[in-house]
Amino acid sequence: MKKPYYITTPIYYSSGDFHLGHCYTTVVCDALARFKRMCGFDVFYLTGTDEHGQKVAEKARLAGTTPQQYVDKLYDQIVKLWSALDISYDKFIRTTDDYHEKTVQKIYEKLLASGDIYKSEYEGLYCTPCESFWTESQLVDGKCPDCGREVKPMKEESYFFKLSKYQDRLIEFYEQNPCFISPKSRMNEMINNFIKPGLKDVCVSRTTFDWGVKLPFDPKHVAYVWIDALSNYITALGYLQDDQTLFDKFWPADLHMVGKEIVRFHTIIWPALLMALDIPLPKQVYGHGWLVFGNEKMSKSKGNAVVDPFALIERYGLDPIRYYLLREIPFGNDGAYSNEALLNRTNSDLVNDLGNLASRTAAMVKKYFDGKVPQPNSFNDLDQQLIDLCNGVLEKVTLDMDSLDVPTALVDIFKVVQRANKYIDENAPWALDKAGDKDRLATVMYVLLECLRFASVLLRPFIPSTAEKVYAKLGIGQIPDNFDSVKQFGQIQIGATVEKGENIFNRLDVEKELVALQEISKKLAQQKMVASGSPIEKKEEITIDDFAKIQLVTAKVLECVKVEKSDKLLKFQLQVGNEIRQVVSGIAQHYTPESLVGKTVVLVANLKPAKLRGIESQGMILCADADGKVIFVTTEKEVESGKTVR
Ligand code: MSP
Repeated sequence: MKKPYYITTPIYYSSGDFHLGHCYTTVVCDALARFKRMCGFDVFYLTGTDEHGQKVAEKARLAGTTPQQYVDKLYDQIVKLWSALDISYDKFIRTTDDYHEKTVQKIYEKLLASGDIYKSEYEGLYCTPCESFWTESQLVDGKCPDCGREVKPMKEESYFFKLSKYQDRLIEFYEQNPCFISPKSRMNEMINNFIKPGLKDVCVSRTTFDWGVKLPFDPKHVAYVWIDALSNYITALGYLQDDQTLFDKFWPADLHMVGKEIVRFHTIIWPALLMALDIPLPKQVYGHGWLVFGNEKMSKSKGNAVVDPFALIERYGLDPIRYYLLREIPFGNDGAYSNEALLNRTNSDLVNDLGNLASRTAAMVKKYFDGKVPQPNSFNDLDQQLIDLCNGVLEKVTLDMDSLDVPTALVDIFKVVQRANKYIDENAPWALDKAGDKDRLATVMYVLLECLRFASVLLRPFIPSTAEKVYAKLGIGQIPDNFDSVKQFGQIQIGATVEKGENIFNRLDVEKELVALQEISKKLAQQKMVASGSPIEKKEEITIDDFAKIQLVTAKVLECVKVEKSDKLLKFQLQVGNEIRQVVSGIAQHYTPESLVGKTVVLVANLKPAKLRGIESQGMILCADADGKVIFVTTEKEVESGKTVR
């Protein structure tokens, strides 16, 4: 029977567009899941969306839709993204799925029954974008320590989870399971920053909004979004449901892969919750680093440049993007994103090393052996070096992957590719051909084809479609779905027909591509800006003659005072050419009278005079209505008063 392996990504917030930074966790987990499958494990790879909470409710309100419509749209977007990235997840969970909501309710009931939650009142600070509670002393410069944004004071009746009760058991668990929090630095961070100062009970329900799972025993409360979200790892497996087969088979999880900013939830609250539910704890939580711009996390809410994965995939194909993410972010640390690094990495590793090796080898076998895999002769020392490298690579890569060091796994596989390219130069097959040394030439071609076979099979979890293309060139059938064939050098079939085919990668012109990528970003930013605008009110069409009836002129503010007993009205004396006009305008809540003196405004000059609070107004000042704020219209440069505006 295959050994089960359960790997999860965090479930993604349904509250905005997804950028390349978001793809990192999922692509890394995908490579791990594919790798484990090829090693012979029965893998269950879970991902999903985190669809409840105040943040989603607010975003939906701003977008003028219901929360459900809002999260449905984001669900479509993320499923499209994972399909574009060829993510091989086994299950996608949404926290709005009925079975999940019902199980979260059962979890709360169980916690209430065991005395692990109790009702009290919460008073403190809340960061809505992070859905996190903070105390004054935890803030950094008065702001949320995780994202640096404003926190809001909050006071409401809440249920609390007795986190403090689990402090000692958590420490004991960490001591007994030193790899539970990885990399090690994150373990120290958790102990020093959170456990040592003392764990406080956490607020696990909210009453001020209702977009969440209602607590069955007190329905004006909804579940705190992090308890709702973390539970996904067990509800997805059928925990507390009619069919618990998956839960029995796959729990405890082998690996929760998460970004470093949410390690705290996964290594303190989550294990304590599982202890309270009397369920075994996951084997490991790995906190990876971020894709950063400058020193900042790539993040839409922080307003820095975000890279659109769809645009990159459309231009370069999927594998350069997957390869870049897997190879470039150093093990456990942050990695700076740049278009230049993406292009250079593609050129150096995929085009020069792998692509070249594949096309040169295929072309030579075509030329010297009519495209047939030749029978090798005796191997010399040079050959042996490559044979040894191939024979040792699976073990090395398995160790790398077991320690979750994906970049090093790729470095180790590429050592075979790079060594093989060097081997071509060392053996100079063209010279062997010239000298008529067919025997040696056959051995050299054979060794090269074997290297390509090893590289393609081993690269399959990381860049599946490139691996398939390279393997297809060898003419030995379908690429295998396991690593059995790369345990021992020398398994390629003699006489198989090697396909020369097309180049797998073409060299990218870095200078040209940098300009093109900048253009694409600019266009995407414009499209996003337009898409985020609100629709304008549709009015009946008018003719140019209708418009000509309205006389718009520039006017200069000579005097401006507040209208007595009115909060809204200001009384203006305006110079309009050689006339003085008195105009009353309802902008007192937006401007102080003194700030307007000397300004140029635009006046509807032929509007029939009207009385406002008994004061005659001879025209109307044009203003823009900007989401509750009123802003007067002026000219871009200084213009005399009385000039026509049209
Ligand atoms: N909904 C929570 C997780 C709940 S799990 C029970 C959440 N969602 S998220 O959408 O904000 O993040 C999803 C994943 O994307 C996290 O692992 C996060 O670290 C990752 N990334 C988001 N931006 C990132 C970068 N710029 N770089 C690398 N990964 C980052 O947190």
